[in-house]
Amino acid sequence: MKKLIQLASYSLLLLLLVIQCQQEPPKPGTAEFIKAATNAVDDAAITNADARPGDWLSHGRNYQEDRYSPLDQINKETVKKLGLAWSLDLGVMRGIEASPIVVDGVMYLTGPWSVVWAIDLRKGEQIWKYDPEVPAEYAEIACCDVVNRGVALYKGAVFFGTIDGRLISLDAATGTVNWEKLTVDRARKYTITGAPRIVKGNVLIGNGGAEFDARGYVSAYDAKTGKENWRFYTVPGDPSKPFENPILEEAAKTWTGEWWTMGGGGTVWDAIVYDPELNLVYIGVGNGTPWDQLHRSPGGGDNWFLSSIVALNADDGKYAWHFQTTPGDTWDYTSTQPMVLADLEIEGKMRKVIMQAPKNGFFYVLDRTDGSFISAEPYTKQNWAKGMDEKGRPIEEEYARYKDVGKNTVIAPGAYGGHNWQPMAFNKETKLMYIPTHKVSLAFSHDEENSFNKVGRGASGSGWNVSYGDKLYKPMVMKADDPNPYAPSGRTVAWDPIAQKEVWGVDHPLTHWNGGIITTKGGLVFQGDATGMLKAYDASNGTVLWEHDLQTGIIAPPVTYAIDGKQYLSIAVGWGGITGLTRKFTENVNPGRIYTFEIDGNAEMPAEIMAAKTELTALAPTGGPADIGRGLTLYVKFCVQCHGDAFGTGGGAIPDLTHSSEGVFKNHKEIILNGALASKGMPNFEGRLTERDVEDIGSFVKYTASSLRKGDDFMTVLTNLAGMQYLGDTQPRKD
Ligand code: HEC
Repeated sequence: MKKLIQLASYSLLLLLLVIQCQQEPPKPGTAEFIKAATNAVDDAAITNADARPGDWLSHGRNYQEDRYSPLDQINKETVKKLGLAWSLDLGVMRGIEASPIVVDGVMYLTGPWSVVWAIDLRKGEQIWKYDPEVPAEYAEIACCDVVNRGVALYKGAVFFGTIDGRLISLDAATGTVNWEKLTVDRARKYTITGAPRIVKGNVLIGNGGAEFDARGYVSAYDAKTGKENWRFYTVPGDPSKPFENPILEEAAKTWTGEWWTMGGGGTVWDAIVYDPELNLVYIGVGNGTPWDQLHRSPGGGDNWFLSSIVALNADDGKYAWHFQTTPGDTWDYTSTQPMVLADLEIEGKMRKVIMQAPKNGFFYVLDRTDGSFISAEPYTKQNWAKGMDEKGRPIEEEYARYKDVGKNTVIAPGAYGGHNWQPMAFNKETKLMYIPTHKVSLAFSHDEENSFNKVGRGASGSGWNVSYGDKLYKPMVMKADDPNPYAPSGRTVAWDPIAQKEVWGVDHPLTHWNGGIITTKGGLVFQGDATGMLKAYDASNGTVLWEHDLQTGIIAPPVTYAIDGKQYLSIAVGWGGITGLTRKFTENVNPGRIYTFEIDGNAEMPAEIMAAKTELTALAPTGGPADIGRGLTLYVKFCVQCHGDAFGTGGGAIPDLTHSSEGVFKNHKEIILNGALASKGMPNFEGRLTERDVEDIGSFVKYTASSLRKGDDFMTVLTNLAGMQYLGDTQPRKD
């Protein structure tokens, strides 16, 4: 009897609980609501992402990372009625590259300096914000702006990497820290800009730094505790010490010289994809350190695993196979670009493929079960390879390795790559890949005198070990149809991966630096561009069906999701990234913002923030031609990576020095040698430059301004500067 009463009271309690739950489900936006929604994001949820079409649970929406949304309320017809629902100011400047994660109306987003936001999409309001307080000096170590490409979400926690090399787990509901791990050796110049991925309870994270002295790897940390479970190095270490795993012994046979003293590069700074069925993780591996192979591995060799797609066992990170897109990289041809998995019928057979458009300009289709080569064709202008042999090994042009020390050899694509980090998207219905491509080149040159970490060529004053031509007076070897290294452009390409050809394309003549892409079941392709236009293209033919001016250049991909059955489109806008630092293609650069669109939305655009108009300085150079030439050489070594090689064109997220006010010129010493703007990411060059150097840089800047004020075109300015650079190099200073 007692038992029965007990049972009855239990049931009553249970009933009460159920009633209570029914009466008061946690309100959207509350901590309990977010807790429930984010706790539900587990392996099964990410694996079956299409069962939750309204969410965007992982970096590329699903494990295939196809960025294809099954939503179709916004389609070729209704897209014309798309209007602004709300916008939210994030209060930051500099680049936003993140792919937002969305679960049940809550968005997680990262921005400059690795800051994270949780946003209530129902209200368009911030829930919490977390700033990991990265020291400002890291701006100089981050090759390409203090950007971050997003978070991963798993079982109630948000994971992200920081510019200073930490991996952090936050409580998704409150933004408080669960755990924090330093993932890098701070003695070397590592940074993290890539988004972590969740694989079987592990958080996978790589890093960047191959312009400096990094040795690449990917690590897996237990999502719950932060314990390191495995690590895979992409470059062999010192062969006199034990290799971390057997395949690195094989890899070491493809290297020559003493590469390990320089790190070797091969950083895994962006793409990581997972196939749950094959239990394989695919990592995209970056360029070599130094760029120029003659300095890195002087006897040649393929240099595994640079510029490769490497497949690893998802449980322990053991090597499964690899495919090297660019053996013996010497052009910064990373294979870190986004990768997409799909099952395609090729020559009558269903193939499990992995697809990538790496920097080298070829679109690759590989069998992802074993890495065997299926096909590769150029998706943009390239001049370094004649084509591929039957195994997918490039047949190089004989001039490609720019060994002629007396010349600057124009190679296409250049270091921006035919495609960079901006995500591509694969539409399951059109079977087309939409790729934000670049038509770019770079004048490379070998410098016999340069060596590791020696201040010599471009950007080396910040520790870059690269190989681009820093002597304007060396003759440029360039064919008539090579892209002009000073006039890069872009093209949104719809690519048929089976036929390996372009189906349609839309040019972006002003610049290559445009936004990432998503595609939808509504037959649409969404992409923003450098001019601030967010566009919806017809996925089948590229017709622009809708556009909206967001007033500031767009680099991040948009995201689409549904709340309570209604489809929305959001995009985070923040101009920056490597090109955005130094150039802009809108009147003004507005602070970072999220914009959200809905059918019949009619919210007003926030007011454009008008930047103070700046002009080319009228101050006259204090030095003569040789001083101006020396100033240019110093500028290329110490300033070009942030202030730009298109000096005089007005700057981007970072000011163009030719447009500074008189007051700023007066303060050059304070700014450049005393750290006056150090908290904003402007390095203190004390000890690296002398007052005389600063004077010469000033003369170069003022000369450039005066020449442009006169109406000289940019190529004329460059030609005149080349002559002065020659004088500067050949005439010792008089003082
Ligand atoms: C790592 C990136 C980086 C490098 C390298 C760099 N700068 Fe800067 N610089 C900045 C940033 C960021 C600002 C803007 C700071 C602010 O917000 O006011 C800036 C601002 C300046 C300004 C003020 C400009 C103005 O009109 O307000 C001067 C002058 C300047 N830099 C000179 C130099 C010189 C000369 C070099 C090379 C010796 C150099 N910088 C290298 C990042 C850099």
